[in-house]
This record gives sequence, structure tokens and C-alpha cells, in this order.
Amino acid sequence: MRLRVDLLPHGTYPDVVVVVDVLRATTTAVTYLERGADALLLTATPEVALALRGGEEGGPYVLGGERGGLPIPGFDFGNSPAEAAGQNFTGKTVVMNTTNGTGAAHTAAQTGKHIFLAALTNAHAAARRARAAATEEIAIVCAGTDGHVGLEDVYAAGVLAEYLLAMGEFTVDDGARIALTVRRNGGNPLEALSSSGHGQHLSRLGLGEDVRFAAGLSTSTLVPALVPGEGAPEGTL
Ligand code: MLT
Repeated sequence: MRLRVDLLPHGTYPDVVVVVDVLRATTTAVTYLERGADALLLTATPEVALALRGGEEGGPYVLGGERGGLPIPGFDFGNSPAEAAGQNFTGKTVVMNTTNGTGAAHTAAQTGKHIFLAALTNAHAAARRARAAATEEIAIVCAGTDGHVGLEDVYAAGVLAEYLLAMGEFTVDDGARIALTVRRNGGNPLEALSSSGHGQHLSRLGLGEDVRFAAGLSTSTLVPALVPGEGAPEGTL
């Protein structure tokens, strides 16, 4: 079994893909499920999300997302996991569109067979799900920020890699070796996230609570699994 870490989304994925966007899309996605959401849809653009919900208030869809860390006009929520943790999404389908994370998931879904969303909050459960589904390769894909590598995602990829290496034999690529090194030298999760460029950006926006929330290691056993194309509306995952 191969284990690979892409420091940014690229290339093709023959088997299992674990998408990581710790600050904040995948952390928030896990939280939506923890707070009762029936399903998640990840759209390619904000317009697809807005069209899906239409003008109906109180319908099945709730829109969450951000641009540059700030909410998208017309959306019900931003992309704050700490905010989502205080809501009840029971009976709702949460439609997400974010700057980096949902795009990374769409890239993965173009070729991957099984796509899982992972954060630090569901890291051990995500590693178990990926290991159980994989037959030849597990690719951990870091979303990054605006096309730049994100320390927080590489650190989380290192956490996932450590869990996976404890679960069985893997040949690892240089990306996985880099992620393991970042994990082993990055301090605890909060130190790593707080030292990242995007973590500092969020803190400057007054969103430091999201950084602290995202550092909660394996606090959830829920793993969002995206099934490309199956019944999902056009332009969504
Ligand atoms: C993203 O998906 O681009 C990130 O989660 C951005 C953010 O919400 O801070």
C-alpha cells in the first residue's frame, strides 16, 4: 500500500483521497455533521450554492462558506467551526463553498474512488476509514491557502500519516516524509496551527476561537465521505 501526501491539490488519484483543510473547511464540515446535518454538499462556486437553495426560507438547505475568511453574501453562515458548534443542523443539508477546501475536494473527486474529509478533530477516525477503503493508495491532499502550502494542513497530514503507519505497512513518498517531519517538529496541535500563516490571519480577523477549535485532536469520530456524482445536484459533491 502506498501513502502519499500532496502539499497542494494536483495530479490524479487512483484510489482513496483524504482532503485536509484544517483552517477551516474540513473542520467545519465535521462540525456540521456533529451538529446533526443529514448531508453535506460541496459546490464548485457560490452561485451553485445560492441557486440550489433558491429563494425559499426554511427549506432543507443551509449555506455555509467564506471568501478570505469572511462570509459570502447571501449565505446563512460563514465557515466558522466554533460558530457551527453552537447551531443545530438536524434535518438540514449544509451546502458549502469555500476559498480552498471545497475546490480541493472537487479536484480529488475528478479521479478518486473514495473521498474523505479530514481535520485534526476527526483525524483518527478518518485514518481508519481511509485504511479500510484503500486497496492500493491513500493520498492525503492538503488544500493550502490561495495556492500556497499551508503549514496547518501539512501538520495534519503528518498526524494522519502517523496514525496510518501504525495501522499497517506503507511505502511513503517524500510528501509524506515532509508531513511526518512537520508533525514531529511542529509542537502540539495548537502551537502548530497558531504558528501557521492562515492561523495568524484568522486570529487577526478575530477568529482565534476557530484556531483553538480546530486544534482539538480526534474529538470526533464522524468522517464526511463524498460520493462523486451519486445523486448530487449538478456542480456539487
Ligand atoms: C478554505 O476553505 O479556504 C478555508 O477554510 C478558508 C477559511 O475558512 O478560513
